[in-house]
Amino acid sequence: MVLTVHHLRLEAEDGMPLVHDLSFELARGETLGIVGESGSGKSLTLRAVLGILPESIGRTGEISCTGRAAMVFQEPATALNPTMRVGSFVADVWRRHHRGESRSVARTAAVELFDQVGIADPERRLRAWPHELSGGMRQRVMIAAALASAPEILLCDEPTTALDVRVQAQILDLLHGLVAEREMAMVFVSHDLAVVSRVCERLLVMRRGELVEAGPLAEVVAAPAQEYTRELLAANLARRLAEGAA
Ligand SMILES: Nc1ncnc2c1ncn2[C@@H]1O[C@H](COP(=O)(O)OP(=O)(O)OP(=O)(O)O)[C@@H](O)[C@H]1O
Ligand SMILES: [Mg+2]
Repeated sequence: MVLTVHHLRLEAEDGMPLVHDLSFELARGETLGIVGESGSGKSLTLRAVLGILPESIGRTGEISCTGRAAMVFQEPATALNPTMRVGSFVADVWRRHHRGESRSVARTAAVELFDQVGIADPERRLRAWPHELSGGMRQRVMIAAALASAPEILLCDEPTTALDVRVQAQILDLLHGLVAEREMAMVFVSHDLAVVSRVCERLLVMRRGELVEAGPLAEVVAAPAQEYTRELLAANLARRLAEGAA
């Protein structure tokens, strides 16, 4: 297993449980989706795995991560440094993980990473400022930055929620391809089951910090055991139909 989460409990300063007794495992190369309504504890769970919980949050239980993990966040505009050219941003991340390498080697690596995430004309794009890029292109830069550390586990927190449906599909296809190619494991968090089902083989359903249901994605979607999962499916379907009609 590249990741084992065992009886994870996260609580607020007043002792209120935010994630309660959560356990799951992730094998090498496996893709796991976590879905649930807003506030169900998805982002906190990912932050706990990456070790970037806010100080005010208490944690018990075990998290064992044998591989390097990197995260792609929901809003690339805030994750990127506005005063840095996107190429320097990615090259800097790469250098942090390749100590002693020169700037020019890092730049070459950044060109290669831009190419791998489908950024056309990477040499030129390296010099762009974040505000000069579209949302989809910024998210590609963030994915390149995540790949710069050659992670074994990619953590994605709603990476396509801020994007329009067409660009969303492109980014999902990109992630799907990269994960397969590099044999990375992935945890992909979303409130949208349709999105998760494009990129994940296994599914966890969370609600109010608790695990509701888990299993192979196709099985859970075909025959949800819990009423909450059925509601989530119905809500997703309704939204998809509304989008299709729009
Ligand atoms: N720093 C914090 N201090 C106290 N409570 C917090 C903190 N961060 C998040 N919470 C609470 O923890 C719960 C879970 O939050 P989390 O951000 O993990 O939800 P989520 O499933 O990612 O929701 P969303 O879909 O809206 O992103 C929420 O009730 C939230 O208000
Ligand atoms: Mg969240």
